Amino acid sequence: MVEDIKKIGTLRIDMTQSAATLLDLAHSMGLYDIQKWVSEEDVQQFLDTKKWIAFIASDSEIGDGMPCGVVSIGIEEEGRLWIELIAVDETYRRRGVATTLINCLIKWGQTNKQRALFVDVDDDNYPAVNLYKSTGFRQAGKIDEYYYDSSTAMVFVKKL
Ligand SMILES: CC(C)(COP(=O)(O)OP(=O)(O)OC[C@H]1O[C@@H](n2cnc3c(N)ncnc32)[C@H](O)[C@@H]1OP(=O)(O)O)[C@@H](O)C(=O)NCCC(=O)NCCS
Repeated sequence: MVEDIKKIGTLRIDMTQSAATLLDLAHSMGLYDIQKWVSEEDVQQFLDTKKWIAFIASDSEIGDGMPCGVVSIGIEEEGRLWIELIAVDETYRRRGVATTLINCLIKWGQTNKQRALFVDVDDDNYPAVNLYKSTGFRQAGKIDEYYYDSSTAMVFVKKL
C-alpha cells in the first residue's frame, strides 16, 4: 500500500485484485464505454496473472473510505508499462487525485525496475491530455483510427 497526501486531505491508495470492482468504479467515474473495449473475464485473468495491476484511491476522511479514483497498468515486456485506464469521480475532479495516482504508478514502476510509462488517449480528451502533460509525459506519437470508434490516439511516454 502506498499513501500520499494531496489537496483533499489524506488520500489512501490500495491495490485491488477484483476486475468487477475495478470496472464498476471506472464505469461510474466516467469511462462509460469500458465494456466495449475490455471484458470483465479478461481483466480478471490479467489481474490474476499479474499482467495488470490496479489501484483504487479512497478519501479516508469520508465514511470507511469512499473510492474517488481508479487506475490500472498493463505490464509489458522490456520494462514497458501502459496505463490501461484511469478515472476520477466527478465530484473529486481537479483536486489532484489523478496526479496522485500517476505518482503512485511512477513510484511502483521505479521500485520494480520498469523502464517507461506509456499511455494512449483520445486526442479530443483535453482533461486527460493536460493531465499527462502536467505530470511530465511527452508526446511520442499520434495514431489515426486507433479506437473502436475510429477516433485518433495521442501516445505519451514518461521515462522512469
Ligand atoms: C482525466 C481525469 C482522470 C483527470 O482527473 P483529475 O483528478 O481531475 O486530475 P488532476 O486534478 O490530478 O489534474 C491534474 C492536471 O490535469 C489537467 N486537467 C485535469 N482536468 C482538466 C480539465 N477538466 N480541463 C483542463 N485541464 C485539466 C490540469 O492541468 C490539472 O492541473 P491543475 O488542476 O493544477 O490545473 C478525469 O477528468 C476523468 O476521470 N475523466 C474521465 C475519464 C477519462 O477520460 N480518463 C482518461 C482516459 S485516458
